[in-house]
Amino acid sequence: MARWSVRIDPPWSLDAWRDAARLALRHAVSPEQLDWLHGEEVSLLDAPPLQAIEAVADTAHDAPTYVSKAFVELAATCLCHRDPQRLPLLYRMLWRIAHGERGLLATPTDPDVLRATALSQAVRRDTHKMKAFVRFREVPGEQDAFIAWFEPDHHIVDRVAPFFARRFTGMRWAILTPSRSVRWDGHALTFGPGQTQADAPTEDAREELWRTYYANIFNPARLNTRMMQQEMPTRYWKHLPEATLLPQLVRDAGDRVQEMHDRTAQPPQRRIPERSIALRSPATANGDDLDALRTAAAGCHRCPLWEPATQTVFGEGPQNARIMLVGEQPGDAEDLSGHPFVGPAGQLLDRALRELGIDRSTLYLTNAVKHFRFERRGKRRIHSTPQITHINACRPWLMGEIENVRPQVIVCLGASAATAVFGAGFTLMANRGRWHSLEDGTRAFATVHPAWVLRQGEGEAREEAYRGLVEDLRRLVEARRDG
Ligand code: URA
Repeated sequence: MARWSVRIDPPWSLDAWRDAARLALRHAVSPEQLDWLHGEEVSLLDAPPLQAIEAVADTAHDAPTYVSKAFVELAATCLCHRDPQRLPLLYRMLWRIAHGERGLLATPTDPDVLRATALSQAVRRDTHKMKAFVRFREVPGEQDAFIAWFEPDHHIVDRVAPFFARRFTGMRWAILTPSRSVRWDGHALTFGPGQTQADAPTEDAREELWRTYYANIFNPARLNTRMMQQEMPTRYWKHLPEATLLPQLVRDAGDRVQEMHDRTAQPPQRRIPERSIALRSPATANGDDLDALRTAAAGCHRCPLWEPATQTVFGEGPQNARIMLVGEQPGDAEDLSGHPFVGPAGQLLDRALRELGIDRSTLYLTNAVKHFRFERRGKRRIHSTPQITHINACRPWLMGEIENVRPQVIVCLGASAATAVFGAGFTLMANRGRWHSLEDGTRAFATVHPAWVLRQGEGEAREEAYRGLVEDLRRLVEARRDG
């Protein structure tokens, strides 16, 4: 029985595996005839490379083998597993499908199906953990450049990288792992060899801010250490700045729950919060995630805009709002009052919402940038469009709001909001009013900013711009009607 050797490069590549498997199948090479080689391994039985088969074999079956989409997806996921046996396993399954067992995947008790499913689940879990636990650190001396170190269990860097490119489109970043690295320059992903942890920066300044946020949202009443260990296994802790807080937070949880019971209601705090990022005393944390986020954002120094501004203007609206409206940044009136959309642009927005029968109090209103950017002209403060660095610096707050409110629909008002939500390549005028789906399934569209409508002068031009805004926002009424 002739034997052949085959090496998949890179070993997680579906295309490379598919080419090899198709070639073997066309030449009726059975699973037992194939040596799947790993890394630098050589064939112990001196089997020639499979690619040479076309030169020596006189027959090949040209009829292609069709497999289901489910099998292709299973193969793509399994290939990312580190188990060397995944390659023969997948070929054996393909062989069986091609030789009469078309319904193989529908037999969940089959040992091959069971094993492939287990491998695929492990890869999915690892992918999920990487999405959740990668933490970027600022590269010292470089503006807006970040590096994260991560140690995944499997070959998942290529699989997960597009997620980070979508999520952090406007940043330059790299993720280093022991066997593969990936870089994003704002336009394209580039993959490279593995690195060491020493190539990544150590702790950066924003981690203190992150710990502040984490300590604030940690709710001792919801602590379930078993679930926590399942969701956040201790081997990932080395990647997480908040991990240093956990032992103490867990130790104090019992006392804090007791204090929460004992505490009498506090009157609302009317004072504008201090611009300090000092840790709130755990005893005053109330477990409301959005409030905690708001408190942490009040001390945000992630970009220079905080300094001339009066205060952080955080989002407002019901925590369970179905619809979130994202504007650009607070204007003069918002900066002074601390509330979003209360100035002239907000009033125009109110008019449009009223016309459509949408109750503003049911919406969550926020901005891509939470501090007012302006230039001084005499006594006046003139709005100045925020730059991409400001949008990026503010993105964690917006993402935190989205994650807490979990709206069904997000509306971006203007190009800055669209950049924050959809990424830097989004063109507003070509896409306005068009539905898009975000990574987590949330539906979103962008339209013009009410302030842009106001800038269209008086008369017909402004009326036309206003009608356009109303027509775009009508999507919200249609979405409500369509359930
Ligand atoms: N413009 C915005 O984008 N947001 C506001 O809150 C006010 C004006």
